[in-house]
Amino acid sequence: MSNELKATLTFSDGSPGAEFPVYSGTIGPDVIDIRKLYAQTGKFTFDPGFMSTAACESAITYIDGDKGELLYRGYPIEELAVSCDYLETCYLLLHGELPSADQKSRFVTSVTYHTMVHEQMTRFFQGFRRDAHPMAVLCGSVGAMSAFYHDSLDIYNLEHRYISAIRLIAKMPTLVAMAYKYSIGQPFVYPRNDLGYSANFMRMMFANPCEEYKVNDVLVRALDRILILHADHEQNASTSTVRLAGSSGANPFACIAAGVATLWGPAHGGANEACLLMLNELQAQGGADKIGDFIAKVKDKHSGVKLMGFGHRVYKNFDPRAKLMRETCYEVLNELGLQDDPLFKLAMTLEKVALEDDYFVTRKLYPNVDFYSGIVQKALGIPTDLFTCIFALARTVGWIANWNEMISDPDQKIGRPRQLFKGNVRRQVLPIGQR
Ligand code: SDX
Repeated sequence: MSNELKATLTFSDGSPGAEFPVYSGTIGPDVIDIRKLYAQTGKFTFDPGFMSTAACESAITYIDGDKGELLYRGYPIEELAVSCDYLETCYLLLHGELPSADQKSRFVTSVTYHTMVHEQMTRFFQGFRRDAHPMAVLCGSVGAMSAFYHDSLDIYNLEHRYISAIRLIAKMPTLVAMAYKYSIGQPFVYPRNDLGYSANFMRMMFANPCEEYKVNDVLVRALDRILILHADHEQNASTSTVRLAGSSGANPFACIAAGVATLWGPAHGGANEACLLMLNELQAQGGADKIGDFIAKVKDKHSGVKLMGFGHRVYKNFDPRAKLMRETCYEVLNELGLQDDPLFKLAMTLEKVALEDDYFVTRKLYPNVDFYSGIVQKALGIPTDLFTCIFALARTVGWIANWNEMISDPDQKIGRPRQLFKGNVRRQVLPIGQR
């Protein structure tokens, strides 16, 4: 990387400082290259939550948190959500360009013909309790894919990486639908090659052997848009996990399983499930009349209560995905004749109250992608505990694109952070009688 600007570090006790190159991206904050800091000063930086740390160089997704802007390979999410479908977006994230009609057709065919899972995986599901959380099942089944697909585990083989990407994108909907069917005691529904990606998923979720399943194009389009909105998001916690796992040379299925596990947390991808549970609880306690008491609890640090679906490490303005998700809510609820859905009305009232409250305004806390996604997924018939699985399904392409970018980097090294040690210095083991 070329650079002219330098950052100079000095110490108030006069100990030797150092100078570091500063690099600029195409857009976004500059970075100070501190890779030689420890060698030159014997000191580490300290940034536990990565509040000010760029962990990699990437060309995939850009977020401007102040403007509330999200670009996939330079294309605004608002345009992709309206003009493209999810598989086009997958192609874009993986290859860096939107596909031509012919490229799209070939990509869709590849994905379509990999949607089935190895038949023995169905037995894998039998090992879980029926009431297991679907994310526990997904963590297990995605990791287990490395036990079935031995022919694509050489991460330095471009062909292997590509077929693993196709298999993961293609099979995630099948695995999520299988987790759902298993939890309700219904038979697994096989994918169909004559259906599009999102229609295939809806059919695997909701069809049963007793009657024909009718695809609702409006609902399918809504789901497809939800997948686009969740496809990638720069170096979030789960993507950073996938990169770190991949940096050790672990196979792609193991890396994506690590991403699934990280996404599960309520501070991350688990927020959509937590947000809907929060709205249900508020509704049960009295709905809009109880918003004041609830907000007071959120503002009380000792309550441990957060307004789920609000706040973001990067967005200090509206999450553009939240606005698009709210529009999708309207479309789906209107299509289903649920315009007066009480939870949607409660969410909009809660959003209005929070956005006018100084506690949220001063901390720049705005609705994020998870605030409305639970409401629209519930309207689509998706059970609450499956919301984060849908998020993982959508994010798989973002994880793979980042994993590929990292593996292809000639300077790539295993990620190995250091620490500020605050434990015991060297001491002697005493015989147990003297302890
Ligand atoms: C996702 O990183 C990504 O890009 C993630 C994601 C993706 O696509 O991959 O966008 C998906 O994970 C979205 C976020 C979903 N999580 C939630 O909705 C859970 C609720 N939100 C919070 O837990 C929180 O806002 C985080 C975790 C999202 C961000 O936390 P930060 O950046 O560490 O901010 P913070 O906790 O330091 O908060 C700053 C202040 C604190 O108050 P003070 O100490 O300054 O008094 O804001 C407060 C926090 O207590 N705060 C909240 C709040 N979020 C932050 N107070 C009440 N409710 C909230 N939701």
